[in-house]
Amino acid sequence: MTMNASPSVYLNPRYQQGAISAAGFFPASELKSVKADIEQWPGYEATPLLPLPDLAAAHGVKSVLYKDEGGRFGLGSFKAIGGAYAVQRLVQQRVREQQGIDVSVSQILENDLGRTCGLVVACATDGNHGRSVAWAARLFGLPCHIYVHANVSPNRRAALQELGATVVAVPGVYDDAVNRASTDASTHGWTIVSDTSYPGYSEIPFNVMLGYTVMFDEILDQAPEPITHVFIQCGVGALPASICAYFAARSPATKLIVVEPERAACLLESARGGAIVNLDGDLATLMAGLACGCPSHLAWSVLREGAAAFMTAPEELTVRGLRMLAKRQPAIISGETGAAGLAGFLAASEGPQRDALGLNRDSVVLLIGTEGATDPDLYQTILKLPDDDVSGFCQSFLQRARRNALNQAASQK
Ligand SMILES: Cc1ncc(COP(=O)(O)O)c(C=O)c1O
Repeated sequence: MTMNASPSVYLNPRYQQGAISAAGFFPASELKSVKADIEQWPGYEATPLLPLPDLAAAHGVKSVLYKDEGGRFGLGSFKAIGGAYAVQRLVQQRVREQQGIDVSVSQILENDLGRTCGLVVACATDGNHGRSVAWAARLFGLPCHIYVHANVSPNRRAALQELGATVVAVPGVYDDAVNRASTDASTHGWTIVSDTSYPGYSEIPFNVMLGYTVMFDEILDQAPEPITHVFIQCGVGALPASICAYFAARSPATKLIVVEPERAACLLESARGGAIVNLDGDLATLMAGLACGCPSHLAWSVLREGAAAFMTAPEELTVRGLRMLAKRQPAIISGETGAAGLAGFLAASEGPQRDALGLNRDSVVLLIGTEGATDPDLYQTILKLPDDDVSGFCQSFLQRARRNALNQAASQK
C-alpha cells in the first residue's frame, strides 16, 4: 500500500522507562480482583490475539499481533469491560454503605441488589463507553441516562436505546455532552460514570481503567513472544494510559506509541506543551471514539512520562487499514476507531521516524482492534468505495462533520 499522507510523530522527551512501575499505578490486589470479577459476568470470554504475518513482512517487522475486541460481551468494543466495571464497583460501594457488607458479583445478581440500592447512573459518550455503562446498568438493574453529541450517528444512538438507556442528544461536541450530563446529574442526584478524569474526579475513571486491564492480562497470556511496540489509539487517553501502566509492571521494555486523529490530538499537543492542553476546535474525524479535545488528567499523569511517542493517524490511512482488514481471509471486522492503531503503525513503519521509534526486523508489534463495526451503515459505505474514491470520501466526511460542529456551535450562541 502506498502512503500518501504523512503522519506527525513526536518523540516524547519526558519518556522514562520505569517511571510508572515505580509508582505502582495499579495495585496488585486490585488487578487480581478485577479479573476474578469480570470472569464472572455472563458471557465472559477472552477475545482472540491474531498474528498477521503478511502485514509484518510487508512492513519490515518480525511480527504483528492483532487483538480483536469486536466480540467483547456482544457490545462491539473493549469499552465493554471499563465502564461496566466502574458500575459494578459503584453498586458494591452503595450496598456496603447501606448494609455494611461486601458483596460479590454473584451475590449482587442473585439477590437483585442493584435494583434496590437506589443508584442511578449517567454518562456522556461517543457511543462505545455509553454502551458499556448501559449494559452494566441493565445487568445490575439500574436506571441509566446517556448523553450523546451532534456527530454521534443514529445507529449508535439506537444501540444505546436497545440496551434500555434513556438517550439525550446534546448540540455541539463531546465536551458539550459531558457538561450537560454533569449538570443534569447534580440536579437529580445521579452518579456520573465517566472514563475521563479531572481534578476532584478520579476514582470512577480509575475503575474504568482497571476494567481494561483484563484485556492486557489476556494479551500477555496469549502473546507468543515479548511485545516491543504498541500503537494504541487515543481519545481522552484512558485506554493508552491503562496499557502503559499495566505493561510498565509486566512488560517494561515495550514502547507505547499513542495514536490520535489529526484534528483531535489533545494528548500530542499536551506532550508538546509539557502540560495538559484542551483543544476547542471542531474535532472532526471519522474515528468517532477518538473525537476528544480534553485529555483525562489521570491518563496524562501516566502518559507524560510513560509514552515513548505521540503521533497522528491520517484519516485516509485508517479507512485503508479498515478495508485491508476486511479483505483478509478470514476477514477481520474493525470500525474506523478500531483501525486507528493500525493506521499509526502503517504510517510510522514507512515514515522518516521508523528508526527513531526503534522499528526494525526484530520488532513485535501489538495492535488492538478496539471495536468491530459499531456503525454498520458507515462500515458498509466504506467497504463499498472504489479505491480511487477513498480520499474524496474522507475529505467530504470531514467537511460535513466540521460544518455540523460549526452549525451546532452557532445555534448555541
Ligand atoms: C473503539 C475505541 N477505541 C479507542 C478509544 C480510545 O479510548 P480513550 O478515550 O480511553 O483514549 C475509544 C474511546 O471511546 C473507543 O471507543
